[in-house]
Amino acid sequence: MKKDFLCLTDWSRDELEQIFGLTRELKAKQKRGEEHHLLKGKTLGMLFEKSSTRTRVSFEVGMFQLGGHALFLSSGNTQMGRGEPIKDTARCMARYVDGVMIRTFSQSVVEEFAACSSVPVVNGLTDLYHPCQVMADLFTVSEHRANWRELNYCWIGDGNNMANSWINAAAVFGFELRVATPDTYRPDGTVMERARKMGARISYTNSPREAARGAHVLNTDVWASMGQEAEQKEREIAFQGYQINTELLKTAAADCLVMHCLPAHRNEEITDEVIEGPHSIVFDEAENRLHVQKAILATLMQ
Ligand code: CP
Ligand code: NVA
Repeated sequence: MKKDFLCLTDWSRDELEQIFGLTRELKAKQKRGEEHHLLKGKTLGMLFEKSSTRTRVSFEVGMFQLGGHALFLSSGNTQMGRGEPIKDTARCMARYVDGVMIRTFSQSVVEEFAACSSVPVVNGLTDLYHPCQVMADLFTVSEHRANWRELNYCWIGDGNNMANSWINAAAVFGFELRVATPDTYRPDGTVMERARKMGARISYTNSPREAARGAHVLNTDVWASMGQEAEQKEREIAFQGYQINTELLKTAAADCLVMHCLPAHRNEEITDEVIEGPHSIVFDEAENRLHVQKAILATLMQ
């Protein structure tokens, strides 16, 4: 049975830890310049209905480093962008490629695609989730802190795709997560409820200070995600105070780590000073997209 990577809670803690193990191995090999062609001769189709820098480059370079090949397909240049049914696109693509990565709006699109595809499908971001990013984020924390499973994490800002995936991660791995968003921008209710049913240790507040107090890892993201550009102005007003800055860091653990998936709007959700400061691990996170995704692709497509 083929497996997909659409949502973190579809995977068990052991399976995700195995992906981290393979990530460590592949990253070390890549740093030593050792060949690791686990996907020799295989092809990944990459469908993008939204912009990307990190996701596109890391998946494409990752496939190359694994001895395979990646195809970049943007919605504007495919028949899917002209309304060809997902089920037809999915079945045709599966006749050519060995795996598909999709970045799109609705989670239901990646789910329908995966249901109709005989090859593995990876979620490269939807409005609901960004699972590859949170895997890279957790792997990055594990490189900086051996006790990453026991740390207190907080999410400050919009209850968006990244927040939802952090909630899923808290449910699977069992770490404590405090979420602070404005009342009207809470994370997805269904995601939160499912996580709580899974026994997740998640608390919600509308106070960034409360969420950040004593936190070991602080995480944020843009106030307006892709597709919400028209809401930028009203969101700038609603999110005032939801910023990771030097003042807020004083309430967190002294050796706290600060994360952001990027791209960032500097001096909105995070100050330039913090992103460039000693607590920030944002570029390690960005790098680890490459290593973690290679492990995900090898796990699914080998
Ligand atoms: N973090 C992330 O997914 O970046 P891109 O939008 O540049 O791919
Ligand atoms: N929440 C952001 C993440 C970008 C990587 C967005 O969806 O635009």
